[in-house]
This record gives sequence, structure tokens and C-alpha cells, in this order.
Amino acid sequence: MNPDPALEPALARARDILAQSPRVAAFSGAGLSAESGLATFRDPDTDALWSRFDPTELASLEGFEANPGRVIDWYNWRRSKYAAVAPNAAHRALAAQTRMIQITQNVDHLLEQAGVAAERIYHLHGNMLYDRCHNRNCDHHERVDLDKPRQLRNCPRCGDYLRPAVVWFGESLPRETWVQAERLCRELDCLLVIGTSATVYPAAGLIDVVRQRQSRVIVIDPNPGAASDVADVHLAGPAAALLPALLEGFDLASTAR
Ligand code: OAD
Repeated sequence: MNPDPALEPALARARDILAQSPRVAAFSGAGLSAESGLATFRDPDTDALWSRFDPTELASLEGFEANPGRVIDWYNWRRSKYAAVAPNAAHRALAAQTRMIQITQNVDHLLEQAGVAAERIYHLHGNMLYDRCHNRNCDHHERVDLDKPRQLRNCPRCGDYLRPAVVWFGESLPRETWVQAERLCRELDCLLVIGTSATVYPAAGLIDVVRQRQSRVIVIDPNPGAASDVADVHLAGPAAALLPALLEGFDLASTAR
């Protein structure tokens, strides 16, 4: 897929920025996986998840405690979608940048599947490939088979419920991952923001961290939003066409080492 020719000037400006940026990282959201067939959460153009489902019922501690079976069934429905999809050209273009860190809000496994090493992916909102114990004092985690996710069940260690290892509204981000992401953003020359509405904090605050040190922000998103409002360049189109064109020929790194 070729990018819209009307975007050539913006692409050239973005490539100039990358050429002048020794330290670049990617910060992605649900739009990165949209062209693989996974629904976004808020999107004016599609049947986004939060326009069809209530996040307080399905993505909060209160929702889980009120009806754990409903929450697990919903996540298992999403897991069945995850099992059926593959990385798209945007994931592959990011994976080809073997020295670049991927900060992502996505709970899917498509960056890993595209070949990004696990230690170079900071999953700010957790990972649907795992369940964890609902009891904060129990650190039991289990890998989940996306094809055959199991129904509501109890932790083999402490007997509380198991739940997806994702971050729900009102919960803290995984501490070490967040500290690493924030520290990295304080040292970047450019943040490449892909397919996020940049409305969910603290994750979206990483864009502010980068802006505060006068570093550059390039946004890839078909729609305008909070990130494009502060971007140096907004590439207003789909990631699977634009990222390969933007990154071709670069070997970007996120740290000076
Ligand atoms: P959103 O659904 O809020 O935003 C998706 C963005 O992707 C929108 O700005 C779309 O315009 C854009 N988009 C759609 N198709 C695209 C494409 N082909 N290429 C590039 N961009 C495209 O998703 P997030 O910002 O990731 O939280 O949402 C943040 C968090 O809110 C999620 O991590 C999730 C949700 O509640 C948790 O699960 C904790």
C-alpha cells in the first residue's frame, strides 16, 4: 500500500526530523493494530469498543467485582479476535528498527509476533496473553491460550479469582515499566506517536514529557486529536501505509549506547 501522494511533503519533513534525531522511540495505541482487524476504543470512523460497550462494567475493578464472569467472557471474546489476526505492515516496519524501543498502550501481542524482542516493548497497559491473580498480595501469573481462553476460575495459589493481566481504569500502570518509559522519554530527541487518541493518562503524558524538553513529535493517525495538536508533523493517514514509507532506510535507536 502506498501513502497518499498529498502526504509527500509531510513525509519529507518527518524524515528530516528522524535524520536529525539520534534517539527516537515509538509510542503506539490501538490504531497500530486497526489494520490487522482489531477494533480501536474511540474512533470517529469505526465501530470502536467504547461506543459499543461500557468501560465501567468491563474495564474497572468495580465492574469485575460486580460481575466477574461477564468481564472474563468479554475479555475471552476479545482474545478470540486476537487469536485470528496477524501483524500488519506497520508492526513489521517498527520491528525492522531493531534498536528502537516500543512503548505501547496495546495489550495485544502483534509487535512481538512481528519480531520485536520482548525486552524492547514496554506494555504500559499490560498484556492480554496473561492472566494474573486479582489478589494484590499474590503474584501468580499464567500464560493464556488465545484460542482456548478459560472461563472464570480461581487462582491455584490463593483461591481468589484470576483476571486478565491488563490495566483497568483507576488502576496504576506497572510501576517498573512506567518508570522506564518516562525516563526514556526524558532523553529522546523524537517520539513517533502512532494510532492513539492520547486521551488516557498517565500514558498520554509521555507526549508532554517529550514536548517539555523541546524534542520533536511526529504523529501518524488518520484523525486529528490531542497528539496531532502538539505535533511537529501530523501524517494524517493509516499506519500500515505510512510507517513503512517513513522508516525506510533508517536504523533508528532509542538510546545513545
Ligand atoms: P483509541 O481507540 O483511543 O485511539 C485510537 C486512535 O487510532 C484514534 O486516534 C484513531 O484515529 C487512530 N487510528 C484508527 N485507525 C488507524 C490506522 N489505521 N492507523 C493509525 N491510526 C489509526 O486507542 P488508544 O489511544 O490506544 O486502555 O486508547 C488508550 C487506552 O484506552 C487503551 O490502551 C485502552 C483504552 O481504554 C486500557 O485497556 C487500559
